Amino acid sequence: MTTIVKLGGSVITEKDRADTLDGAALDRLADAIAAVDVDDLVVVHGGGSFGHHHASEHGVSKTAGSDDAGAAVDIHGAMKTLNEFVLARLHDRGVPAVPVHPFSAATRDADATLALPTAQVETMLGEGFVPVLHGDVVAHAGEGVTVVSGDELVVSLARGLDADRVGFCSTVPGVLDADDAVVERIDDYDAVADVLGESDATDVTGGMAGKVRALLGLATPASVFGPDALGAFLSGGTPGTLIEGGADADG
Ligand code: IPE
Repeated sequence: MTTIVKLGGSVITEKDRADTLDGAALDRLADAIAAVDVDDLVVVHGGGSFGHHHASEHGVSKTAGSDDAGAAVDIHGAMKTLNEFVLARLHDRGVPAVPVHPFSAATRDADATLALPTAQVETMLGEGFVPVLHGDVVAHAGEGVTVVSGDELVVSLARGLDADRVGFCSTVPGVLDADDAVVERIDDYDAVADVLGESDATDVTGGMAGKVRALLGLATPASVFGPDALGAFLSGGTPGTLIEGGADADG
C-alpha cells in the first residue's frame, strides 16, 4: 500500500515572511506522521515562503524559466534548507526520512511535460525509508530551469508508483463550496466548476481549480484536508474532500 502525502508550503512556513518556518505547525504534522505506521509512505512538501520568495525574486515560475545558474542554485538552495527542516523534525520522532531533490532527478521537455524517474524512490521504500521530496527547480528544455510544484510531483509519483492513496494537507479543511462548506466528494469537474472557477486565471484559492482537475485525471483517489486531519488521513480515513476521477487520463 503506497501512500503519498503533500505538506502544503503555506502550512509549514509563514507565507508572508521570507524564509520563515512555521515550526509549531511542522511539529504537529511530524507528530502525526510519526504516530501512524504507514507501510510505504512518500512525503512531498511545498515551498511556502522559502521557494516562492526566491522564485519570484528571480522571475522564475512553472512557465517562465531562467538560464542563470545562480538563480537556479538560489531557489534550489532555499528548498533544500526547508527540506532539511522537515527531515530534522521527522528524525526527531524516529521517522526514517531521506531527501530526494527533484532538481537532480526530474526534467521537463519542450512541451513542459515533467519526467520524474521513480526507481530511486521505489528502492528507498523497499529499504524502509520515507523519501521526502519537495517543490524545486528543474531543467526545462528551451527554458533553462522552471519551477516544479509539489502538486505536480505528487501527480507524477502517483502514476509512477501506482500509488493507492494521495493526500494534500493544506491550509483549508478541503475543497470549499460557495458557502465555505467542505465538498465531501468530487468525481466530476463540471459539478464544482462554478465554485472553483473555470480557469487558473480566476483561481484565487491557491491553485485549487488546477489541483482538482489534475487529481480527477488520476486513477488514485486523493484527499484534500486541513492540518488537523493529517493523522486521520494516514490512519486510512478520508477527511476533507475525496477526489475520485477513477480513470487515468494520461494512461
Ligand atoms: C513551490 O512548490 C516550489 C518553488 C517555488 C521552488 P509548491 O508550489 O508545491 O509550494 P506551495 O505548497 O504552494 O507553497
